[in-house]
Amino acid sequence: MTVRFEPMAEGFALQAFDINLSQDVSEQDRKIIIDAWTQSGLLLFRGVNDSEAGHMRLSHCFGTPEISVKKEFNSGQNPYLLDLKYTSADKDVMRNAVDYHGESRAGFIGWHWDQAFAPRIIRGAVLRMLVPAATHGETGFIDAIAAYDRLPQTLRERIEGLEVVYQYRAKANPICFPPGVSDQSSGRDDAAMRRDFPPTVHPMVITQRETGRKILKLSPMYADHVLGMTREDSQKLFEEIAEYLLDERHAYFHQWQAQDMIVWDNWRILHSARGHSFDDFRHPQRTTIGGDYALGRYLDTEIDSNRVGRTAID
Ligand SMILES: [Fe+2]
Repeated sequence: MTVRFEPMAEGFALQAFDINLSQDVSEQDRKIIIDAWTQSGLLLFRGVNDSEAGHMRLSHCFGTPEISVKKEFNSGQNPYLLDLKYTSADKDVMRNAVDYHGESRAGFIGWHWDQAFAPRIIRGAVLRMLVPAATHGETGFIDAIAAYDRLPQTLRERIEGLEVVYQYRAKANPICFPPGVSDQSSGRDDAAMRRDFPPTVHPMVITQRETGRKILKLSPMYADHVLGMTREDSQKLFEEIAEYLLDERHAYFHQWQAQDMIVWDNWRILHSARGHSFDDFRHPQRTTIGGDYALGRYLDTEIDSNRVGRTAID
């Protein structure tokens, strides 16, 4: 039996079939999985695993899992597993609160790729849903290669070579929220976030090494400004780009079933958690695939990119 992938009926993810995660993944299967990942950037494993061991075996196919950066979120005895449980008893329920078309939702996170506030960007992540939210709780994904292809040629030329400065902060850039959704979050220490996370710089456009395709590498959530451009002009440009990048007609919204596993390429795919009601319960676990695309840096060149500072997850 060899693993195979098929396009999902909806969206751009590929779904895996005929994979046995109760044993180590063969080298032949691993290569097929990596090829599919390079092709689409988003893989779904449904109905093929219900164990932590299988989650770890799959994670190892994509590289070296990293010990999760927030020790308080580690699951049990496994330091590679990030526990992202939401319960209404959490003291931080307001951190990701939004008004969603007139309805209050918790756990809503706008469009981003992970770790833009660090110079080193993780390769990807494998998310396993133990308990989906009773209502909503979808995760949205956008392919930034397809988004680059949607840009008019004139806009492609204007953004070529630009660099974006990112700042970790309490209030996200409003462009990361879709129309009809407004940020109602509270409870974050903006001064501490800015102090502990110096601004970083990442290119606006990068190239997928394996295929030469261009990626529109803008993470809207903590985008602060374009290097060398005023905040006002930067925000206008971000808004112009967002019309193409964040056009949700091209996004895929995953409706989670228990034990689904989704793997995304963090150098290419943006994601957004769509939230759920405040009294809901949701329990995903995540592994993080290490890596460094080596194109990020701190804005302040005096700061060592490899310094060990504060860490956070988004
Ligand atoms: Fe994220």
